Amino acid sequence: MNTTFSKNIESLIQDIKQQNYLTNPLVSEIVESNHISENDVAQYVSYNHSPNESYGRQLIYDNGNFKILLMSWKSGDFTAIHNHGYTEWGCVYFFGEATHRLYSVTNDELKILQKDNFHKGQIASVCGDLTHIMGNSSSENFTTLHIYGSQTRKNDVSKDAIVYLPELDKEVTTMGSAFLNMNEQLILSEKPLIKVCREVLSDYFSLVKPFYERNGLVSILKNIEKKLESKNIN
Ligand SMILES: [Fe+2]
Repeated sequence: MNTTFSKNIESLIQDIKQQNYLTNPLVSEIVESNHISENDVAQYVSYNHSPNESYGRQLIYDNGNFKILLMSWKSGDFTAIHNHGYTEWGCVYFFGEATHRLYSVTNDELKILQKDNFHKGQIASVCGDLTHIMGNSSSENFTTLHIYGSQTRKNDVSKDAIVYLPELDKEVTTMGSAFLNMNEQLILSEKPLIKVCREVLSDYFSLVKPFYERNGLVSILKNIEKKLESKNIN
């Protein structure tokens, strides 16, 4: 971990550390007041991330009870559908236009709640059970700054994040990463996927297909097609 931070990142860390009790509105206010620019995070940009990873994910700082990361999104980069484990407060600051879906998980079924994108300069709140997908459907690269924290945990704040993988018919838990088709070493546990209707599936596949196409993952693409066809018949 690089410990030489820009003045603004250093000030962001100190401002968060100084609070006795963090809430989502407060952490968003702190991020806004520190005017973090793309220059402040330039050393953490990772558009050249491994092709196995579906977006760039670089840790900037981990204080135990909170951590700060920079995600890098080149065209076609996407997370899987995921939540945020033990996270109790946090936010995402957008340096570009991100495609986004918000989901609900009720009675063992995944449903879409919202399809609004996030825009450059926006700040979105995050908590553990926020289930979403985000990525880059445009042709321009951008980054996002993520803060995840907890009032109660002293480490691993995003542990036990749930990642839903309809193309592999399973859901898994991780330490916080939400890559598509991720390396098995990142998986803590796995079980069969909950119910997902055709509308959610077809929207999801349209978002993540570019990742599988660019990596030539033919068997997964075929599974996607097969699932959509079978949902058609039923
Ligand atoms: Fe997330």
